[in-house]
Amino acid sequence: MPSYYRRNFIVNASTGAALAVLSADLLAADSPAATPTSPTTTPATESIPKASITPAFTSVHEPKPLPFNPGKLDGISEKLINSHWANNYTASVKALNSINQLIVTALNDANTLPFVYNELKREHLLRTNSVVLHELYFHNLGGNGKPDETVQKLLEDAFGSYETWEKEFRRIGSGLGGGSGWVVLGYNLHTGLLENYWLGDHQHSPAATFPVLVLDMYEHSYQIDYGATATSYVDAFFKNIQWNVVAFRLDKARELRALVNY
Ligand SMILES: [Fe+2]
Repeated sequence: MPSYYRRNFIVNASTGAALAVLSADLLAADSPAATPTSPTTTPATESIPKASITPAFTSVHEPKPLPFNPGKLDGISEKLINSHWANNYTASVKALNSINQLIVTALNDANTLPFVYNELKREHLLRTNSVVLHELYFHNLGGNGKPDETVQKLLEDAFGSYETWEKEFRRIGSGLGGGSGWVVLGYNLHTGLLENYWLGDHQHSPAATFPVLVLDMYEHSYQIDYGATATSYVDAFFKNIQWNVVAFRLDKARELRALVNY
C-alpha cells in the first residue's frame, strides 16, 4: 500500500478516536440535567442530539504534498504544477473545511430552511470530489508513461486494444478542452467493467466506481504551459503517467469487487 494511503488511514483513524471522546463530552455537557419527568411527556425531537464534532461534520482535511519532484515532469512545468497544487487543489481543501463548519452550524439551527441547507450539501459534494480527484490526479503523475504488460492486457481485454482505450481517453479529454471536467478510467464495482468516464465537473461521478486513472481537464491544469491547446497537455499527461499507481488501484478495485460481490 502506498505510504499516502496508509498515512491517510492512520490520521483519520486517530482523529476519529479523539473526536469520539470530544463528542461524548460535548454531548454530555449539552444534555439537560436528569429530572423525574416522565419520558412520555418529552417531545421526541428533544432526544435527538445536536450535530457536534464527529467525523461526519469535522474538518480534518490537510493538503497532501505532491508525490513527485514538480521540476522533473516531462512537458509540464514546475510553475504550472506548483500553481495547480497551491492555488486550485489547496483552495478546495480549505473550502471543504470551511463548508463542514457551516454545515454544523446550519444543521443545529432550527431556522435553517432545508433547501438552503442543501445548497451547503451541494457545495460539500463539489468540494469533496474536487479534493479527492485532485489527489488521485497528482498521485497518478510522476512516472515514465509506460504501462506494464499486466495493465496493458487488462486494457486490451476491456477495450479490444490498448490503442483503442487510449484513443477514447484522449477523445474525452479533447472534448473537455477549453472548459472544465475530468476524464476517469474507472473500475465499476457494480458492473465489473473497466471503462472511461466523462465527468463534466466535480459533481459528476459514476456510481460505485473506483477511479484508477484521473486526468484533470480544468483549464487551470494546462493554461500556463499550453494556452488553449488542450491536446498538447493531454500528450504531456500521457508521458508522465505513473502506471505503477494505476496498476495498484486496479488491483485493489478488482479485489474489492470480489469481496463485495455486487
Ligand atoms: Fe485542477
